[in-house]
Amino acid sequence: MTTRTATLAVATTMIGVLASTPAAWATSNGVVTGMGHDLVQRLCSACHMVEPGQSDPPNHVGGPAFQTVANRPDITERSLRRHLRATHSNAMIPLAMPNPQLSEDELIKIIDYLISLRIVH
Ligand code: HEC
Repeated sequence: MTTRTATLAVATTMIGVLASTPAAWATSNGVVTGMGHDLVQRLCSACHMVEPGQSDPPNHVGGPAFQTVANRPDITERSLRRHLRATHSNAMIPLAMPNPQLSEDELIKIIDYLISLRIVH
């Protein structure tokens, strides 16, 4: 009886780069594109206008356009963080904003994106 030894070479090399995507990069108009933009398109655009230059029509119901929010003088990174970590809808106000359940990383990228929409006068 012969014994055959099979050697299995297991390639453990990961192809590609580990998640080292640049968080964001500024375009010529100063709006941060990249992960934050992708995230808001995916997670927020059902209820909000998320693109720069978009504003809500007069009788709009639902979430305010992100550029409109960004331009409010009371909006800061802190206020956005507070808003995005809370649940605003409940049995009495079911159409208010649900808690988006963001990771810390997503939160940072989304806040960067929102602040970048601010029009500096
Ligand atoms: C189901 C609809 C819905 C989704 C999804 C949603 N929002 Fe909202 N959002 C609202 C509504 C309605 C309001 C206004 C009333 C309120 O605050 O609940 C609002 C308000 C806001 C405001 C204004 C806060 C302020 O201080 O006035 C911000 C900023 C915001 N949303 C960000 C986001 C982001 C970022 C996402 C995605 C991660 C998101 N929203 C997803 C419905 C939504």
